Amino acid sequence: MQGFQWLRTGVLAALASGAAFAAAPAQAQGALVMYCGVQEEWCRAMSTAFERDTGIKVAMTRKSAGEIYAQLKAESSNPRGDIWWGGTGDPHLQAAEEGLTLEYESPVNKDLHDWALSQWKAAQKRSVGIYAGALGFGFNTQQIKQKGLSEPKCWADLLDPKLKDDVQVADPNSSGTAYNLLATVVQLMGEEKGFDYLKKLHKNVSQYTKSGAAPAKAASLGETAVGIVFIHDAVVFAVQGDPIKAVAPCEGTGYEIGSMSIIKGARNLDSARKFYDWALTPAAQALAAPAKSYQVPSNKNSTVPPQAPKMSEMKMIDYDFVKYGSSAERTRLLTKWDKEVKALPK
Ligand code: F6P
Repeated sequence: MQGFQWLRTGVLAALASGAAFAAAPAQAQGALVMYCGVQEEWCRAMSTAFERDTGIKVAMTRKSAGEIYAQLKAESSNPRGDIWWGGTGDPHLQAAEEGLTLEYESPVNKDLHDWALSQWKAAQKRSVGIYAGALGFGFNTQQIKQKGLSEPKCWADLLDPKLKDDVQVADPNSSGTAYNLLATVVQLMGEEKGFDYLKKLHKNVSQYTKSGAAPAKAASLGETAVGIVFIHDAVVFAVQGDPIKAVAPCEGTGYEIGSMSIIKGARNLDSARKFYDWALTPAAQALAAPAKSYQVPSNKNSTVPPQAPKMSEMKMIDYDFVKYGSSAERTRLLTKWDKEVKALPK
């Protein structure tokens, strides 16, 4: 009788509190809601292997980095996701600053490269580096020949009027790749000249795609002559024999620290932490290359795929992640780009 009374009081208390009811233990164990920011094939390989290794069921959605950040913000009063895995570091840093993600220190941190830990430090422990990749472009060799152009090697070459409506790049509001371009150009050329460059480039852009890697596929198929992308995303098509060449621009270029963060209010916090530790291991990072993702992994003991572009041989800028991942700067640059570049007539 007393036991029943206790149970009844407990059930009533749980019903009275929506939060307690939502966090019912049946759902809180053995599940993980993952927002995934890399290519679909790698996202699927990661969720399948994690399910297999731990028995934890993964519900995965693939989106671009700016979109995941916006989703976290929109859901902040009622978070639905547990882990944000992948995507460029800047929106992860903005989410960290805005308190949308949680501090965590993984035991695997000791095995990570300094650049991965610098993301963790910049994010006040709320995000960590999982891979790195350099920005550049891919061009369709046949299209460039047909236009009578010599092979583009530099950012400046993409302004050639013969490339009118034949360059694709993503929209920096949705895509982390395209925001990386915006921040790279501003750091490389200075803000005024950088925006001048983007305005001129706008004349040649046929469409601003939602996802950052889409222009690489379009260039490999000859749907566009040039796609501005992370170099590894163009390499995917080059290694399978498509007529595309990947370029590290001659003036210098920026790079990303692809990142991971635990979402504040995660309903499956234990699963999120398990995934976080697991995703940093060499075994989990080795799932990238078979899924045609050729970034540089963040664990020092991971094997770098032979197809990964050699960043040490490129002219790289000293990308200021703290500044360009800050809420104020990212918001300011995106608003300016919308007003001064995207709104321009062609
Ligand atoms: O998975 C490919 C990739 O280029 C990652 O290296 C990068 O973090 C991500 O896509 C960016 O995607 P998006 O530009 O769509 O946000």
